[in-house]
Amino acid sequence: MEVLRLRLVVAVLVLLASSAAAARAPPRIAPLPTAALRRLYDTSNYGKLQLNNGLALTPQMGWNSWNFFACNINETVIRETADALVSTGLATLGYNYVNIDDCWSYVTRGKKGQLLPDPKTFPSGIKALADYVHGKGLKLGIYSDAGVSTCQVRPGSLFHENDDAALFASWGVDYLKYDNCYNLGIKPEKRLQNSYALVMYPPMRDALNSTGRQIFYSLCEWGQDDPALWAGKVGNSWRTTDDIVDTWKSMTDIADKNNKWASYAGPGGWNDPDMLEVGNGGMTSAEYRSHFSIWALMKAPLLIGCDVRNMTSETLEILSNKEVIQVNQDPLGVQGRRILGEGKYGCCEFITMSNLQCNLLSQVWAGPLSENRLVVALWNRCSETANFTIKLPAVGLDGSSAYSVRDLWQKEDELHALPVLDAALKMDSPAPEKKRSERRRHAAVLGSQALEQKSDQTPALSSPPN
Ligand SMILES: *[C@@H]1O[C@H](CO)[C@@H](O)[C@H](O)[C@H]1NC(C)=O
Ligand SMILES: *[C@@H]1O[C@H](CO)[C@@H](O)[C@H](O)[C@H]1NC(C)=O
Ligand SMILES: *[C@@H]1O[C@H](CO)[C@@H](O)[C@H](O)[C@H]1NC(C)=O
Ligand SMILES: *[C@@H]1O[C@H](CO)[C@@H](O)[C@H](O)[C@H]1NC(C)=O
Repeated sequence: MEVLRLRLVVAVLVLLASSAAAARAPPRIAPLPTAALRRLYDTSNYGKLQLNNGLALTPQMGWNSWNFFACNINETVIRETADALVSTGLATLGYNYVNIDDCWSYVTRGKKGQLLPDPKTFPSGIKALADYVHGKGLKLGIYSDAGVSTCQVRPGSLFHENDDAALFASWGVDYLKYDNCYNLGIKPEKRLQNSYALVMYPPMRDALNSTGRQIFYSLCEWGQDDPALWAGKVGNSWRTTDDIVDTWKSMTDIADKNNKWASYAGPGGWNDPDMLEVGNGGMTSAEYRSHFSIWALMKAPLLIGCDVRNMTSETLEILSNKEVIQVNQDPLGVQGRRILGEGKYGCCEFITMSNLQCNLLSQVWAGPLSENRLVVALWNRCSETANFTIKLPAVGLDGSSAYSVRDLWQKEDELHALPVLDAALKMDSPAPEKKRSERRRHAAVLGSQALEQKSDQTPALSSPPN
């Protein structure tokens, strides 16, 4: 039996043309080729609900100010970030939204009831910033809230939806993140149509639509009302969980929660497990590779959350992995999911002195891609080396056929027949990460496999040859 050794090496970036959408085709999915694949990768909800505003054919990519800067933002940071997205090559790879989060606006509305940019931090105004960002070939995103105030207690857009949407459009805004704070505490039993969010979020959708400007609508109601079940008609993406924080525990918990809604994602509307923490320092490089890999595989928005003006080369390499980005931006648009979480529970740790949490040792996440390919992530959730042996039928493949395999981090092709995918995931050497030697180290590797029968097919790799 051939054995494939997957190692962890981050490779160098190559350019990728952005696949940002132009005209929108009706949501469609070609039936997956085999019953085994259809059973494993349920797509019964795919394409049912999408908001028809022509956007989000693939998950949105870009940057958002919150995870690194929180409230400490100003127009200089936003401009310099736009510059850095271009100079680092990230813009060319598809990271095109520059999204301002909370704290851009003044604490009260103006005399005519209009939102005002904070004159201390955004003295030139948002229109000038949008012009600057557009001049770089990028798009500008802004933030508001479906309540009376934003989370940082700036004016919210509740009851001001039409005026605020018109103002955003007049400034040239391309994206709105719409938060959920100060929503008047409407109690569940008082909620119309059973859902607070169903009352609060559609008015802004309609307001944005009536501006005539294409504005990406990102719902941020923290998964409270199971938005996957309804938000496809309302927004282009919907948060499925609470905010991410820059820890392994938060990131893995959120991935697991987001996984539940996999069958609802599709072109036009995506599950959103929150913005990336890659590069913010709370996880090791191997952990950040896991984070980026799983977000890509889950068709999550890829919104960078670090200071792109000042990234380490390791951070840039992770965010620039073109082949992993291609997994995320694959036109089939089917969210990958956890296929196996087997093995004994292991690598337990005390979350508190009385609360022991254990993980499923070896997890396999996978999803279908276009052109008869499959992406497979072997995700070691523990600190010890784990040996993975996956029988191909377990991920929906015909075990008697041969497949080509490409390691998307190692960037190596494995062209031999693989009746079984067998891998030992080695943990990173602790040496470069001494300061975190007490932390658990983890590994993720993405492979991509052709689904073709071996007989007369040239093995299809995960990306065109360089
Ligand atoms: C507004 O909604 C209509 C109906 O769904 C859609 O056809 C149109 O493209 C939308 N326009 C914008 C600007 O989002
Ligand atoms: C803008 O914000 C950045 C990041 O918080 C800060 O370093 C910088 O001093 C600020 N610049 C001005 C002019 O306030
Ligand atoms: C750049 O990041 C490093 C940590 O990676 C930090 O020590 C340094 O202060 C940052 N520089 C600036 C200008 O923000
Ligand atoms: C994994 O497999 C290798 C080779 O088959 C073996 O040497 C090693 O002990 C195994 N590791 C574990 C943790 O089982």
